Amino acid sequence: MGLMDGKKGLVFGIANDYSIAWGITEELHRQGAQLGFTHLPDKDPASPKMERRVRKLVDPIGAKMVVPCNVQDDADLDRTFAKAKEVFGTIDFVVHSVAYAPMEDLKGPVYGVSREGFKTSMDISVFSLMAVCKRAKELMPDGGSIMTLSYLGGERVIPGYNVMGLCKAALESATTYLAHELGTSKIRVNALSAGPIRTLSSSAVSDLDVMMKIYNAMAPMRRNVDQAEVGKSAIYLLSDMSTGVTGETLHVDSGYHVMGAPPADAKFD
Ligand SMILES: NC(=O)c1ccc[n+]([C@@H]2O[C@H](COP(=O)([O-])OP(=O)(O)OC[C@H]3O[C@@H](n4cnc5c(N)ncnc54)[C@H](O)[C@@H]3O)[C@@H](O)[C@H]2O)c1
Repeated sequence: MGLMDGKKGLVFGIANDYSIAWGITEELHRQGAQLGFTHLPDKDPASPKMERRVRKLVDPIGAKMVVPCNVQDDADLDRTFAKAKEVFGTIDFVVHSVAYAPMEDLKGPVYGVSREGFKTSMDISVFSLMAVCKRAKELMPDGGSIMTLSYLGGERVIPGYNVMGLCKAALESATTYLAHELGTSKIRVNALSAGPIRTLSSSAVSDLDVMMKIYNAMAPMRRNVDQAEVGKSAIYLLSDMSTGVTGETLHVDSGYHVMGAPPADAKFD
C-alpha cells in the first residue's frame, strides 16, 4: 500500500532525469499516485526534443497526460488544467518545480539586474505559483496539497544566487499568503527548500561546486542531499502525512540552514 494510493496530480518542471521534479515523480509513482506532466513547449514542432525527453521518462511509469506548458502563457496554463479536468476530473496535488532567470541577469549583481530580466525571473519563478494555484483550486473541491521548490538563498544571502534569491524570498512569501487564502478550501500550500543539487538549472548558478563543497563541510550531516531524498520528503508534504501542515518551508538540506558558523572540523577542499 502506497502513501499516494488513489491520489491524482500534476507535476510541473521535469526537464530531464536530473530534475528535482523527476526525483519527486519517481517517489510519487512508487507511492501509487496517478500522474500528469507538463514540459516546456518545443520551438520546432518538427523536432519535439522537450516532449521526447519528458515522455521517455514518464511514459514508462504510465503518465496519464503529457502537455506543453510555458507558465508565462495563460492560455497554456488554461489548456493544461482543462486537460487535467478531462483526464482526472479532480486532482489532489500539484508539484511546482519551475524557475528561470536570464543568464546575464543571474550571473551579475542584484543591483545590475535589468528591468526585463527581473520581470521574467519573477514571472516564471514566482507568479507561476499563483497562476497554478488559481487553476488548481477549481479542480480541488475536496482540498489538496500544492508544493513548490525553494532554496535558502531566499532567506539569507548566498553569494552567486543573486536575483534568484529575490525570487525565492517572494516565492516563500507567496507560499504563506496562498496557504492563508486557500486554507478554508482545505488546500495546503508548502515549500520544500532543497540543498544544492546538480541539475540543468543549478548549473547556471555561479559557484555551485563551491557551494556543494561548503555544504559537505558545514552541514550537520556533513553531506549534500540528492533528488531521491527530496522526493521522499515531498511525499510527506503531498500526502495525508501532513494534513495539519500549511504555509511551511521544509528544509531538506542535511541541516545546513541551522548553522551560523563552520564546525571545527570543516575542510573546504
Ligand atoms: N538544483 C538545486 O540545487 C535546487 C535547490 C533548491 C531549489 N531548487 C529549485 O527546484 C526547482 C527545479 O529546479 P531543478 O534544479 O530541478 O532544475 P531543472 O532545470 O531540472 O528544472 C527547472 C524546470 O523549470 C522549467 N521551466 C523554466 N522556465 C519555464 C517556463 N517558462 N514554463 C514552464 N517551465 C519552465 C524547466 O523546463 C525545468 O523543467 C526550481 O524551482 C529550483 O529553483 C533547485
